[in-house]
Amino acid sequence: MCPKQLLAMELGTHSNVLQTFFSSKSKKNKKVTNLTEEELNNFIRSVITMKPDVIDPFYVLDLGAVKCIMEKWNSKFPQIRPFYAVKCNPEPMFLALLAMMGAGFDCASQAEIEAVVGLGVSPDRIIFASTCKPETHLKYAATVGVNLATYDSSYEVEKIKKWHPKCALLLRIKVGDDNYARRPLGNKFGALPEEIIPLLQAAHTAHLSVVGVAFHLGSAVTHQEAYRFAIASAKTVFDTAIQLGMPRMHILDIGGGFTASPQFEDAAATIKDALESYFGDEPGLEMVSEPGRFFAETSFTLVTNIIGKRVRGNVKEYWINDGLYGSMMNMLHDPDRVIGTVKPLALNSYPDNPTCSRLMTYSSIVYGPIANSLDTVLTNYQLPELNVNDWLVFSEMGAYSASAGSKFNGFDTSAIRTYLAYSNQSSESSICMNGNKV
Ligand SMILES: Cc1ncc(COP(=O)(O)O)c(C=O)c1O
Repeated sequence: MCPKQLLAMELGTHSNVLQTFFSSKSKKNKKVTNLTEEELNNFIRSVITMKPDVIDPFYVLDLGAVKCIMEKWNSKFPQIRPFYAVKCNPEPMFLALLAMMGAGFDCASQAEIEAVVGLGVSPDRIIFASTCKPETHLKYAATVGVNLATYDSSYEVEKIKKWHPKCALLLRIKVGDDNYARRPLGNKFGALPEEIIPLLQAAHTAHLSVVGVAFHLGSAVTHQEAYRFAIASAKTVFDTAIQLGMPRMHILDIGGGFTASPQFEDAAATIKDALESYFGDEPGLEMVSEPGRFFAETSFTLVTNIIGKRVRGNVKEYWINDGLYGSMMNMLHDPDRVIGTVKPLALNSYPDNPTCSRLMTYSSIVYGPIANSLDTVLTNYQLPELNVNDWLVFSEMGAYSASAGSKFNGFDTSAIRTYLAYSNQSSESSICMNGNKV
C-alpha cells in the first residue's frame, strides 16, 4: 500500500492551504482521509521540531476529517442543508473549508456574521440564530443583508420591526421538558406552547413574515427519539399559522445537537422517519439544521505542554499550559463531557518511545495553568511518569473549546494557534509548513 502523504500548513496561508487540499482531493487515485494516529503524532512532532523554542499549546485541524464528516452528513441528510453554528468553533480556516463544501452558517452575533461574510459567503447563507439580538447587531445584519433570524418573544418582534423590517423570521419553539441532551437549552430558549399563537400574531401584526419554525433540543442530544416529538410539534405550528390566516411557512430548522458518533445514525433514522410522517406532503419545504459539535468536535486535537511537576507519595501531579479557563472551559458547564483520549507525547523524557508504549503508569493529576484550584483537568488519571517539556495530546477538542476560553491570568485562549493537516494516498510522503516544503 502506498504511504500516505501528509501536508500541513500554518494559519495565515488560507487560500494556499485550501487550494492544495482541494486539488489533492481531485487528483486521480488520491483519497483524502482522516489522519491516522501515527500520522497525527508525526505531524505534531513536526510542528514541535519546527519551532523548538515555542512551547505554547496548539491545535491541529484535520481537514480530511472535516471532509469525511461533511460526506457523512450529506449521505444521511441529502435534503437538509447544514448551517454550521459558528459559536462552536470560529476558527477561520475551518469556516472557510465548510463554506467551500457548501455549508451555510448559524451566526449569533455581529462578530460571527462579520467572520462569515468576510470569507465571501453570501448573506443568504446565514441565519441570525440568536433569539435575542442586540440592536446594533440587528442594524448590522440589515446592512449586510442577513435577512433570516429566529425569535421567541414579542419584544424581539418589536426590535426587529424597528431595526430590520425586511427580516424574515423563524419562530423558535421549546420542545418537551428539556431533558434530551447533555447540555439542555430549553430553560432559556424557545416559545412555550401557549406562547405560540400570540407570537405568530405579534409578527403578523408587525408585517414581519414568519417563514418557518426552529427548535434545538440541546447540545449533544442523548434521546434521539426527541427529534420525532420536536418535528411533530413544528408541524403543529405550521398548521396553526395557516389557521390564523398567515402565509404558509416553508422552512423547518431542526437545530443542532448531533455528535459524530454512532448515535448520529439513530438520530438520522428518527428524523427521516418523522419528516416523512409529519411533513411528507408539505409543499416546497426547505429543511435546514444548525449543527456545531457534529462538525467541530472530532476535527481538532489540542496539544499542551507540561510546564510543571510535583510528586506527592504515589501520585504524580503535572501542570499543563491550557486548562478549564481556556480550551477546556466546556468542562465547567458540561461536567459530563468525557475528555476524549489524552495521550502523552514524551519527546523530552523518552525520545525513542515518545508515545510511552508499554511504560508503567501512575495515578496522576493534571492541572491547568490558572491560579485557581478549580482549574484541574484530570484527577486519578493513569499516565506514565512524565516531565516538564513533555506534551499531552487531547483528541476531540474542537467543540466549545477555543471559542469559550478566557484570558484569565493572561493565558489568552484566542491566541492559541491552529495548524492544518490532512492525509491522502500518494507515493511520496512530505510535510509542508507555511506553504513551503521542508
Ligand atoms: C441556536 C443554536 N444553534 C446551534 C447550536 C449548535 O448546537 P450543537 O453544537 O449541539 O450542534 C447551538 C448551541 O448552543 C445553538 O444555541
